[in-house]
Amino acid sequence: MQYDKANRTFDCDPTLTDTQILDFCKNGYIILEGVVDEETNQRTCDYLEGRLPANPSYIPKGLTTADLERIRNSHEPSTIFLEDWFVENTLLNREVCGALRSLLGKNVGLPVLVSHHRAQCPSPPQGWHHDADHVFGPELNFVEVFYYPQDTPEELGPTEIVPGSHIQPTHRGPEDRGVLSSGPAGSLIIHHQCILHRKGPSTATGTRHMLKYNCWRTSAPDRDWIVEPEFDLHTTYYGGHTTARYVAHMFYWLCGKGDEFRVIGGQGWPWSTNNQIGPSYGYGKSEGYIPNWRYNNGDGYADAPN
Ligand SMILES: [Fe+2]
Repeated sequence: MQYDKANRTFDCDPTLTDTQILDFCKNGYIILEGVVDEETNQRTCDYLEGRLPANPSYIPKGLTTADLERIRNSHEPSTIFLEDWFVENTLLNREVCGALRSLLGKNVGLPVLVSHHRAQCPSPPQGWHHDADHVFGPELNFVEVFYYPQDTPEELGPTEIVPGSHIQPTHRGPEDRGVLSSGPAGSLIIHHQCILHRKGPSTATGTRHMLKYNCWRTSAPDRDWIVEPEFDLHTTYYGGHTTARYVAHMFYWLCGKGDEFRVIGGQGWPWSTNNQIGPSYGYGKSEGYIPNWRYNNGDGYADAPN
């Protein structure tokens, strides 16, 4: 593990494989259960509830101790990123970093802002939503992380997410259910910021803490995770109709080949089923179409002019 404190980046060996990266492109999230140690989880709760005195390892340029105090007491207590124990055991946690390094390439940028999602339970579910400022597209320039510093079973209203909803606008009614990101203390959910989600309904009594922050790409994508020799970009399964093209485009972008990606439509690659007697036509074409991520996207972003 190499930690560059001055530039706020880390580098380490990637731990995810082709298959796991493709799963992230399909589902939009990875759950790491209970990876942060109990002492750090407890310290985090104590910090968030004001029981642990602040001990910042440095005062960032342009800020004063009064600023740090104000930030700590806000709903965005980003000063927790100045605490050595949090940096060492959560931000630089070995399993978390291996996954982030796989998805975001060399020299991952550490977060500068955290949101503290404190919920008083019991409470009804939140409405389903895509978070503010999400942008649909094949690029993965950052990922969002949820960190639960306490046991967060279903009764405590963990975040509920809809797998695959990071690709295009998705709507769900209040009664519709998703996948609950419940887990023991120290669990993290690494996910695409576009994914549809909500705070789940809770039935227990007490306070739920959750920290949300973004980690950033600082180098170009290059398929520098664990390459599986048997993984075949032509024949692997990318998903069903109207989905496979987006998943494959994202995977290609992560391989550093986003500009080469073309599809010819119909039953052509990247679509496939397991009833075929041969690989799909249309693989490796240099002419064809690209998925229209910007069509009816509803996110308010337009393509930059060429
Ligand atoms: Fe949200």
